[in-house]
Amino acid sequence: MATKVESILLREKHVKFFMRCLSILPDRYEAYDSNRMTICFFALSGLDLLDALDRIDSDKQSIIDWIYSLQVLPSSKELNESPSKYCGFRGSKAAGAKSAASIDDCPYDGGHLAMTYTALASLLILQDDFSRVHRSAIIQSLKSLQRSDGSFSPMAFECENDVRFIYCVCCISYMLNDWSGFDQEKAVDYIRNSQGYDFGIAQGPSMESHGGSTFCAVASLFLMGRLHDAFAADKLEGLKRWCLLRQQTGFNGRPNKPVDTCYSFWVGATLELLGCYDLIDRECNRGHLLAIQNSITGGLSKHFDTPPDVLHSYLGLSGLSLLSEPGLQEVDPALNISRRAVEHLHTTCW
Ligand code: FPP
Repeated sequence: MATKVESILLREKHVKFFMRCLSILPDRYEAYDSNRMTICFFALSGLDLLDALDRIDSDKQSIIDWIYSLQVLPSSKELNESPSKYCGFRGSKAAGAKSAASIDDCPYDGGHLAMTYTALASLLILQDDFSRVHRSAIIQSLKSLQRSDGSFSPMAFECENDVRFIYCVCCISYMLNDWSGFDQEKAVDYIRNSQGYDFGIAQGPSMESHGGSTFCAVASLFLMGRLHDAFAADKLEGLKRWCLLRQQTGFNGRPNKPVDTCYSFWVGATLELLGCYDLIDRECNRGHLLAIQNSITGGLSKHFDTPPDVLHSYLGLSGLSLLSEPGLQEVDPALNISRRAVEHLHTTCW
């Protein structure tokens, strides 16, 4: 059903949308069951940007406890022998897994970097003080996840490796205020080697430049304090140009692809970190994001012909926050959480 094109932020509808996402989801989310932590993060951070965390006051403690129940703790053997390579957070509870248990209790179900990043970010949003986070085990686990080319795999099993997981590692290291878990120089080299002939950045060397991987690379360099010395001046200028060329009405993720709501954040935040967000057409981007709101169910969609989902709703609001949309909290472009949550990190968890 076609919905009316909106020109104002439908704040209350979006609050209700994220509240629903925290309690019940349509069956199309079934395939994402192992990534529940990320769904929880998008909904919580969405409520935070909408300044509506008071709506979950009565559930706050149980959500914090649920997040901690997914922490994988070092096993007694590992504590004395090798780095705790399986530590971190799981995305959901597999059948048979105990709360906050070691890997021994559920083999092959260890921590995952994206889940650890979103778990820590969610704890900050909920104003937790990280007192139950096993900091040293998480930092130790990073050591065994870095590959010889500088990239990271998300888990201590044979699996993919790319720039996304360098970004997760940088967020984790920043949030835990401990950069001793990996070789930063190698990670910077991997990012440098992933820049293409067109100056955009791909998931790895010789791959296609993409808005998502470009964000991960630039935000990682920013968090490491290496943004301005990692690239030669011409490569940095080329990168800015590649990002600016992603704007159509909203943004696309690569040339000749349709506009997609999430890139208003991924590419917008990259431009903000590169210091040239002011060069975009703000009204055009804002118009696109407001038009893609769903006026019946709340939430924002990826495309005009798709239903709203939690990821695009959150990233669409983050994109509007970069534009200083009234009614939204400011988003931190590097960590992808509210500035208020970052302030809590600095004052309470460091
Ligand atoms: C779609 O590719 C891919 C995305 C929309 C995800 C891009 C985002 C990232 C890689 C950042 C992820 C960040 C973390 C922290 C894990 P597609 O080929 O379907 O879409 P396209 O046509 O827009 O390129």
